[in-house]
Amino acid sequence: MASKRRAPTRRQFTLSLGATLLLAACTSDDESSGETGGEGGEGGAGGAGGTTSNVEPSTPWQPSGGEDTAAFATGVQVGDATAASAIVSVHTTETVSLHVAIGKDDAWEEIATLDGLTPDNGVVQVEVTDLEPDTGYSVVFYADADRRSAVARFRSALGQDASRVIRFGASSCLGGNQPWATLSHAADERLDFFLMLGDTIYGDSPPNTYDYETKWTTALGVKGLRDLAATTSFVATWDDHEVDNNWSYDTPGIQAKVDAGLTAFRRGMPQRLGPGGTQIWRKLSWGKVVDLFVLDCRGERKDGNYISPEQLAWLKDGLSTSTAQFKLVLNSVPITDFTGTLVGDIQKEDRWQGYPTQRSEIVSHIDDESIGGVLWLAGDFHIGGAGKISPPDAPGAHAIEILCGPAGSPINPAAGLINPDERLLLVSKTWTYTLFEVDPDAASIRVVFIDDRGAILHEMTLTEL
Ligand SMILES: [Fe+2]
Repeated sequence: MASKRRAPTRRQFTLSLGATLLLAACTSDDESSGETGGEGGEGGAGGAGGTTSNVEPSTPWQPSGGEDTAAFATGVQVGDATAASAIVSVHTTETVSLHVAIGKDDAWEEIATLDGLTPDNGVVQVEVTDLEPDTGYSVVFYADADRRSAVARFRSALGQDASRVIRFGASSCLGGNQPWATLSHAADERLDFFLMLGDTIYGDSPPNTYDYETKWTTALGVKGLRDLAATTSFVATWDDHEVDNNWSYDTPGIQAKVDAGLTAFRRGMPQRLGPGGTQIWRKLSWGKVVDLFVLDCRGERKDGNYISPEQLAWLKDGLSTSTAQFKLVLNSVPITDFTGTLVGDIQKEDRWQGYPTQRSEIVSHIDDESIGGVLWLAGDFHIGGAGKISPPDAPGAHAIEILCGPAGSPINPAAGLINPDERLLLVSKTWTYTLFEVDPDAASIRVVFIDDRGAILHEMTLTEL
């Protein structure tokens, strides 16, 4: 089975869960469509018209052998799950084998193995294909019969015509406050997926060596992120600190750092490539309920643009043609225009507000085409919250953005001055992750902010998106 995407920075293997297992180095030049959801979306309990989901065991898979926490210090990460496939990643220096189990009828059944996986500079990434939609899976890597990694559970996406409540989490900015306890509480939820909205590492933090690989292995080894990776798949974008603080292409020598930071990001958070085979921006679908539009709001700031014209056109077209009930836009830096709030113009050059032409183009497009169900999600601000993205009577006046995180970075010093009002509907001033419950029947999204103690700090239900 050929891979459907190009992997310019690593070898890639594909594991089919059908009768034949095939190990192949990926040499395909096939261009990904970027439409990464809905593959193989028919059949199974999550298939056409279904409103139920496959039940999976309530307890984790417990394969034989023991976890070698020295050899597999960073656990296993799963990324960009679709209805048919997911990308599985492990940091290791050894040749390993991948074992896959499916969860059905309250039992885990091992269904496939793939042997002889040799790491590429310390990382093995495998695309597991032919998944059943809306089904629980667990994966584990073995170095030998007795020594294995942690188990990672994830859930495949809903088939393209399926519908049920989708539960996912989101956070950003892991620049302190270890072990990121709020992420361990997110792990307890066994979510459908978890959104990492940028600044997962701080490549510029001490020791400031721009050793991105080490920053990633350090982060993935922290308890909160390890716990989370063991229970759900990630959908990740990056922000500035995956490379450098507020970096710009005008900085001499930046391109080498961008290249290294991007490679390390994709090795730390396994992910698909965008429509042209290289981009971060991409789309993932969870049945009829949710389309995820993952933006790259850092890597395409060139020629006076905030994002490339190609990314902007893709987003506009994708929102226009999406048939999902809700369109969630992952947007590392807020699109909110804070004019008229306490934040005002402060550092507006670092976010959409400083690029009013492109901001107006996308916001007005959504208004002009009456595209419903759009919710913006952002990190970056080191304050959690929810608000209207535009001043009254401006385009986007009724659109909502949720600020997620931080999970670890210092709380914004301005937080004490910012209180809810008619624009900023909710303000969260401590470390949190945000739990989302998307209910297609109620046409609502419940938004809950959960702190390091696992306590609910704030919640609201959005009903008119
Ligand atoms: Fe940050």
